[in-house]
Amino acid sequence: MAKDFVRIFDTTLRDGEQVPGCKLNTDQKLVIAKRLDELGVDVIEAGFPVSSPGDFNSVVEISKIVKNASVCGLSRAVKNDIKVAAEALEYAKKPRIHTGIGTSDSHIKHKFNSSKDKIIEIGFEAVKYAKTFVYDVEFYAEDAGRTDNDFLAKVCEKMIEAGATVLNIPDTTGYCLPEEYGQKIKYLLENVKNIEKATISCHCHNDLGLATANSIAGIINGARQIECTINGIGERAGNTSLEEVVMIMRQHPALNLDTNINSKLLFDTSNLVSDSMGMPVQPNKAIVGANAFAHSSGIHQDGVIKNRETYEIIDPHDVGVNESAIILTARSGRAALAYRAKKIGYNLSKDELDLVYPEFLKFADINKEVTDKYIPEIIKKSI
Ligand code: KIV
Ligand code: ZN
Repeated sequence: MAKDFVRIFDTTLRDGEQVPGCKLNTDQKLVIAKRLDELGVDVIEAGFPVSSPGDFNSVVEISKIVKNASVCGLSRAVKNDIKVAAEALEYAKKPRIHTGIGTSDSHIKHKFNSSKDKIIEIGFEAVKYAKTFVYDVEFYAEDAGRTDNDFLAKVCEKMIEAGATVLNIPDTTGYCLPEEYGQKIKYLLENVKNIEKATISCHCHNDLGLATANSIAGIINGARQIECTINGIGERAGNTSLEEVVMIMRQHPALNLDTNINSKLLFDTSNLVSDSMGMPVQPNKAIVGANAFAHSSGIHQDGVIKNRETYEIIDPHDVGVNESAIILTARSGRAALAYRAKKIGYNLSKDELDLVYPEFLKFADINKEVTDKYIPEIIKKSI
């Protein structure tokens, strides 16, 4: 059966760039946008054009160089924001305006001091106005995660009527549980009359560490776009991590879902974003962390040396990592020591290994990690 296609909407350069102290200049954004295009993302959210002249200019320049992806500009449901976003997208081959407004009781009361009817009216007018500039208009119902499903369905129906092509259902505060978020998407698909005219998009934040799980629950329940960032960067605890959702779909054929992403570029792209922003990736980060394919305990190392699949569910080559790493520490066994010694030209016999191993342990207890340069010294000392 042909796989269903899930669009990847990358917001590294907009929501991702909202990380304090990680601002990028236009040149850095251009390098990242080019890479995202090569990676195969379907939409690049290039910025929030009305927010500053720098952001406006970045969206203009990114629009000029992106070849395949749609280029998207964010706006509030405010006429001037939308007009400025449209101007910034003038050179985009496939422009998209992303406009919207808060729909939860909290946003309606505290942010807008407004009413549900008025919020629908403002959203409707915003989408209609955006449609005068571009065909592709995405509407976000900010804080949809905490918005009552019945009202959210009404909002979605009206926005599709106004011409929205994509309905973004953000869990802005990262509050939802996967089951709850999945049910929200299901509810919309079952209760919004004109839903077949639009795509539902997941946009999940990671405040409770559930952004990836929620996005996956969303697509399992029928959403067909995921909004995410490289390395999961973004406001507060971040956004859904692109590499995680892409590899979940790849590694679970039973989901019958796939993306356009060239996964072999994931590791390099992660490094590019991390270096450009000066924001290190946590070593235990799934897929792209330094330890994602590193094994240090003796039991695991022995297994991986015999057959990589004993302790790895992803082939590191598939995400652009050269090979699994066998890290020598005091937790390592003889198999790991023999393996690493062989890699640098020492083919140790069983008897030799029996002599070298105790010396290795002594050294490892003091030095934590034993890198290749110390192995010859340890061997010389013991044989
Ligand atoms: O998290 C959110 O609600 C957003 C919207 C502006 C799309 O980033
Ligand atoms: Zn967001």
